[in-house]
Amino acid sequence: MGDRFPIQQFDHLEFYVGNAKQAALFYSKCFGFTNTAYRGLETGERDVASYVLEQGNIRFVVSSGLNPQHPIAKLAWDHGDHVAVIALAVPDAEKAYLEATDRGALEAIPPTKTQDDSGVLCYSAIHLYGNVLLKFVDRSHYSGAFAPGFKPCTLTENHHTSGLTAIDHVVANVELGAMERWVQFFAETMGFEVLVHFDEQAISTEYSALMSKVMQDKTGTIKLPINEPASGKRKSQIEEYLEYNGGPGVQHIALATDNIIETVSCLKAAGLEFLQVPSTYYQDLTERVGPINLAVEKLAELGILVDRDSDGYLLQIFTQTVQDRPTLFFEVIQRCGAKGFGEGNFKALFEAIEREQAVRGNL
Ligand code: FE2
Repeated sequence: MGDRFPIQQFDHLEFYVGNAKQAALFYSKCFGFTNTAYRGLETGERDVASYVLEQGNIRFVVSSGLNPQHPIAKLAWDHGDHVAVIALAVPDAEKAYLEATDRGALEAIPPTKTQDDSGVLCYSAIHLYGNVLLKFVDRSHYSGAFAPGFKPCTLTENHHTSGLTAIDHVVANVELGAMERWVQFFAETMGFEVLVHFDEQAISTEYSALMSKVMQDKTGTIKLPINEPASGKRKSQIEEYLEYNGGPGVQHIALATDNIIETVSCLKAAGLEFLQVPSTYYQDLTERVGPINLAVEKLAELGILVDRDSDGYLLQIFTQTVQDRPTLFFEVIQRCGAKGFGEGNFKALFEAIEREQAVRGNL
């Protein structure tokens, strides 16, 4: 099945937002992305403004509707700024669509070809959780700036990057009882497998719990964990998300770096805010995770977490939510061999999230 459903990599993530111009500035100034392409009134596009932002192998698109009737404006109103499209690069967007819909995926955009002087771009899409689309993109016959209708942007020479290299994983929150259905969906429509699964015992605090299964494609390039809330004493972080997002959707995007100290220093200097862990986290760190090649004091200063599995260790840190609603946030991750997701940090992390939830009056 995996061979019948080849996926090359993440192509892009598209965010529907209230103000794409300001969102583009946020991702470029705070995260170090470069605006590489644009469509809007100035390029002849009457209904939507979109900015393409790139860094390393990561491509984001932020889009706003230019009138209240436009579906992008409507969805941004319903969910707040959110990830609306997860796009995967595939060798054949029509075949991917037919394979997936044959196996029960809900049709969203039938195979479509668009072209300009730079060639032909093919895409299609199916429905995922909530209002999120899973798009299949074949850009092997297209050499232009992102897609027909987009104009390349003149790049400024002194643009800074923060060393982010790739999308490591994209996590969804779904309703209570829906996780298994989406696990089956990825397995049946695209041949994904469960890489790892965490039950409510593994992910629980005094107040709340959640369950999670990590789905990945056959090559391990695309990792899509799915969370659902489990019952606890108080409202779980997943329930808070579902309430403010107006249903299921993308909870966090993990971005990889080869130098987390430098990356996080850049992001902090640019004003990005991160979750705080208590200083006690670092007291017996090396006893807990074994030797690491970085000074614990530096990790403590920046608030970077460490975890080890049988393949090595990983370093990770989580931002505060990046819009007014307590929904989407980012993770920065450096893998030094480890293939996990920071299981050893779940408790410290979820307690940090709950402290923020309490401040918001939602715990
Ligand atoms: Fe993560």
